[in-house]
Parts: sequence; structure tokens; C-alpha cells
Amino acid sequence: MSFWQQIKDQFRTNDSSGDEQPSGPPCFWQVDMHSHLLPGIDDGVQTPEQALLCLEQLQGWGIQKVITTPHVSRDYYPNTTETLLKGQDRLQNLVIEHNLPLTVEVAAEYMLDDFFPDLIANNDLLSFGAERYVLFETGFEANSLGLETVIFRLQTKGYTPVLAHPERYAYFHKHRDMLPRLREMGCLFQLNWLSVTGLYGERVKKQARLMLEQKSIDFVGSDLHGPSLSGRFQGVFSAPDFALFAQQPLRNASLLTDVGWPVG
Ligand SMILES: [Fe+2]
Repeated sequence: MSFWQQIKDQFRTNDSSGDEQPSGPPCFWQVDMHSHLLPGIDDGVQTPEQALLCLEQLQGWGIQKVITTPHVSRDYYPNTTETLLKGQDRLQNLVIEHNLPLTVEVAAEYMLDDFFPDLIANNDLLSFGAERYVLFETGFEANSLGLETVIFRLQTKGYTPVLAHPERYAYFHKHRDMLPRLREMGCLFQLNWLSVTGLYGERVKKQARLMLEQKSIDFVGSDLHGPSLSGRFQGVFSAPDFALFAQQPLRNASLLTDVGWPVG
């Protein structure tokens, strides 16, 4: 048995320990647009084998297209558009080599730091979809200074801002009026699948439910960092709030046929 086969069998064994398999592919939204599957460039997968396992899992859940989004930040992950696009070539080759029925693209998850306004000003962002969606995140505890300014700057440059996992930020839990205000400005919201399981805590789960009840989720994303979390993902599809995904104005599936936008 090859080394690769041994790794796959190990994860499949772990996967099936007590988890019920869904009867059909649960990911009706078809496109996953938040994950960390470029090996070794952020806190996501570290090897091509791990990337392949993740892609196989996503495909098994019904995902047909993966737009993976490595972290970009000045301090921790100073990835550039050039290095990310090289990674895209390698990931696409991996998919072809292993005959996976998936298409893959690379965008990014940008940290709202001092560096981000420069990237916006220089049109140096990896967006996705015809609407030029740009996925970005902020720090988790304090309100990011300039959040509304950055949203406005993105829009004036022709991008559509998408805030990654808004349910996870503590300051939005305390200031309930802020998220509706951002959405009114035209900022879209991406919910992490795992938030409905309570993985990030009860407050995040509660915030996720509130946003789902308000039907204010534009994208759902796995935020998959590695295959070791796979057992937890089975819990998403059996979570009571998973049923609310079908009631959202989700745009994921529109990305299946979108040709994207040239870089710059
Ligand atoms: Fe992420």
C-alpha cells in the first residue's frame, strides 16, 4: 500500500467513527469560497496530501468548485498576489493529476490591517466572481478602526466587500446595530459552516442563528484549514440551524459559472 493510500485510509477511518453519513450531498450551494488549502503558506494545510484530502472531502459533500482563500496580512502572512497565483497553478495541477471532479481557484482572505488600504489603492487584490468579491477579516476582539472607510474604498475601486465570518467577532455581539449598518452600506456577509455547531462557542452560535433568522447571509464557507476537522463538519449537516441555510440569499452557486475578473 502506498504512503498516500495509508494517509487516506487513516482519515477515512477517523471520519466514520460514529458519524452518520448524509444520504445525499448536503452542500446544495455547490461552491465553497473560504478555505486555506494552499500548502505551507498560512495556518491551513501544510502538504499537498492534506490539500488533496480536503478537496476530496469538499467534493464528497457536494462542492463542485473551490475558491480557496489563504490569509494575507502584513505581520503574519505577507503573501503576495504573485505567490498566490503560483500556488493556484500547483493546486490545479493536483486536481488534474488525481482526476478530481472539481474546479479550483485562488483568491485571498485579507486582514484589515495597515497594509490593506495600500493593496486596495494599488488594485492589488485577488477578487473572485464577476462582482469582484473581496473576502476580508478583522481582529476578533476590538472594533477595527476604519472598517467603514475600508468598505467604502473597496466599493469605489469597483470591488464588492465580503466580511468573513461576522458571527465570530465579539464586538458585534455587544453592538447589535453594527452588522445591519454594514450590510446597508453594501458589505456582504459570509458565515462559517461550523458556527452552527457551537465549535467557536455558544455566543458565536447564537449570533449565527440571529443572522440566519434575519436572512442576512450572502455566502457560506467551510473555512477549512485541514482534514483533521472533518469529523466536526459532519456535525454541521445535522445541526438544527443547518436548515436555515436554505432560507438565505446565498450567492455561492452563482460563482459556479462566473468567469471571475482579471487581477488588478
Ligand atoms: Fe479563514
